[in-house]
Amino acid sequence: MAPLASAGATARRHPPIVRTLRLTTGLILFSFATSHFLNHACGILRLPAMDAVRLVLLWPWRTAVGQTLLYGSLLIHGGLGLYAIFRRRHLWIPPSELAQILLGLSIPPLIIIHATNVRLGYLLFGLPLTYPWLIYRYWFLSPFVGLPRQFLLLLVLWIHGCIGLRSAIRFKPWYPRWMPMLAILATLIPVLAISGIIDAGHDFDARAAQDQAFLARFKLQTPEQTAALSRIGETLILIYLGLVGAVFALSGAREWHQRRFRAVNHRLPRWQAGARAARVLDP
Ligand code: HEM
Repeated sequence: MAPLASAGATARRHPPIVRTLRLTTGLILFSFATSHFLNHACGILRLPAMDAVRLVLLWPWRTAVGQTLLYGSLLIHGGLGLYAIFRRRHLWIPPSELAQILLGLSIPPLIIIHATNVRLGYLLFGLPLTYPWLIYRYWFLSPFVGLPRQFLLLLVLWIHGCIGLRSAIRFKPWYPRWMPMLAILATLIPVLAISGIIDAGHDFDARAAQDQAFLARFKLQTPEQTAALSRIGETLILIYLGLVGAVFALSGAREWHQRRFRAVNHRLPRWQAGARAARVLDP
């Protein structure tokens, strides 16, 4: 293990363009998450309201520009995260930075499953993009796997976003004044989002209990379609895991090479060391 004295050298600064790109793409993703989570919160007003608000709140993200911004930002932000891991020297990582790295690394697999089912399900098989459909999928069909995974994604993504946003604005002169309000929002939005999903789930159950034909409307996805979407999701996750593994392997190899190189620099060959010692004794 390298000495802690070198910890300062672990956080090598990125060029300004990289920092700007990371902040911009992070802000785009955070805006999407905020609008999506506020939309979840509308579940408190029942399913039809939730879906009506979706048509307004998520409309910008469904346009060509919105889709390019959303998925482009996901790719760039994720790529820059991996690049930061590659550049960093893994000698000592402050706990908050370690949390940020681990949270960031766990987002892609979770989001790939949801986005594949939702966006590719729609594009490939014409499956609905509506809340009743997704509440049926998560709340009704998969309450012990799909639903908790969505809540995990929500919390992981939100905490990662809040830590990133805080580190970007904490030195602004207005930050101390706004901090209490931002802290309230940072707590309220995920709490309301989760409550909205739970209320929408109860609303779904009540409708299914009242109307025999209600559930039949959701028998839309064939087992072949489910299998195809799972295969695509699993392939994307495997590609992602391969990339993460490659980044850690390359970063480790670079660190090993650098340490070895420095060690050679410090340990002079015996003839040089002898000559230097002679010069010190007899300048
Ligand atoms: C139980 C929880 C969730 C439900 C019921 C849900 C529901 C939905 C719905 C209805 C859509 C389609 C929206 C549209 O295009 O009009 C959607 C898309 C999407 N959601 Fe969620 N969502 C949940 C959790 C999350 C979380 C936690 C995230 C993380 C940010 C997320 C990210 C996405 C993404 C990336 C899309 C695809 C957007 C697109 O391609 O247009 N979702 N979700």
